[in-house]
Amino acid sequence: MWLAIETSCDETAVALYAPGRGLVGEWLQTQIALHGPHGGVVPDLAAREHLRTLAPLIALGQQAGEGRIDAIAVTRGPGLAACLAIGVAAAKALALAWQVPVWGLNHLRGHLWSPFLTLAADGGFAGAVPDDYLPHLGLIVSGGHTLLAVIDTRRQVHLLSSTRDDAAGEALDKGAKLLGLGYPGGPLIEQRARGGRPAAFDFPRGLPERAELDFSFSGLKTSLRYCLEKMTPEEVRRATPDLCASYQEAVVDALAKKTRAALQTGSFRSLGLSGGVARNGRVREALAAEAGRRKISFLAARPEHTGDNAGMIAFAAAIDPPPRAEAQGMGLKIDPSLSLVDY
Ligand code: KG4
Ligand code: ZN
Repeated sequence: MWLAIETSCDETAVALYAPGRGLVGEWLQTQIALHGPHGGVVPDLAAREHLRTLAPLIALGQQAGEGRIDAIAVTRGPGLAACLAIGVAAAKALALAWQVPVWGLNHLRGHLWSPFLTLAADGGFAGAVPDDYLPHLGLIVSGGHTLLAVIDTRRQVHLLSSTRDDAAGEALDKGAKLLGLGYPGGPLIEQRARGGRPAAFDFPRGLPERAELDFSFSGLKTSLRYCLEKMTPEEVRRATPDLCASYQEAVVDALAKKTRAALQTGSFRSLGLSGGVARNGRVREALAAEAGRRKISFLAARPEHTGDNAGMIAFAAAIDPPPRAEAQGMGLKIDPSLSLVDY
């Protein structure tokens, strides 16, 4: 059984995973209430909170888990350095105490594989990802990242494109802040957009060239700011559903357009959607339509696996293990490259 730990940003998460059988349990403590009043994640507060909550979550996992932990998987980056260090230090300490190997995982690989975690949990497959889904195009949309990556038929991961400036979630969070809605902005914009008209305001859709696969969201946020500067507070209040629906639609449209262009660059057999913004109903709908247009499978991460979680880290460790490393000192099989860098 694997123990997985995720502390890269504002969720402290632990999971138990039995290779071949699936997730045995997950324990997660979100810090949204802690950071909300500050309008965004405060790294120092986040690190202190991980320090407070990680050990009790691991203890819960230990109580619930049947059998021995054979290996530990931990997110080693990218993320907030002070937060990552807490998870990595805990993983190394437990590995020392239990004399088991510890593997450092790239957080984005966790998100990229998370739609397959859903598929496996739903009985879609056991063991290796079936060939029918490969090559796979994955769209990761979160508060910190917006990127397209490919899992090829040899199950190797390649980055196709990413954002030149803000991430999609960041654009939603900043937009919500300008509208005075609160934090995190994505779900608040989605709520307020219900009943609003998506074509009421014309916001920019990022880089217009069709062949360009990179995303760009900074112009969108600036455009909202200029738009709001021309309105009175009362006009903004009355137009909030329209502003939210139009702003959300610009994000959705930009994601769909670049994904459509990326799908045309290869003979993909499935499209995946993951990351916190993948919880958004319009984003799911639009991306499902893009997969439908190409008549390929659409795999979206389950809502509870869209945001940061340890289940996806355990799954990625099992399905896409980091390169095996030699045993290091003290008879411990600790991956020597277990530093805060990507693999
Ligand atoms: O993956 P995640 O939990 O953390 C990062 O790794 O960044 O993503 C958080 C982001 C935030 O920007 C938040 O506003 C956005 O996901 N988000 C949403 C929704 N729920 C969360 N965006 C749009 N609609 C939602 N329902
Ligand atoms: Zn994430």
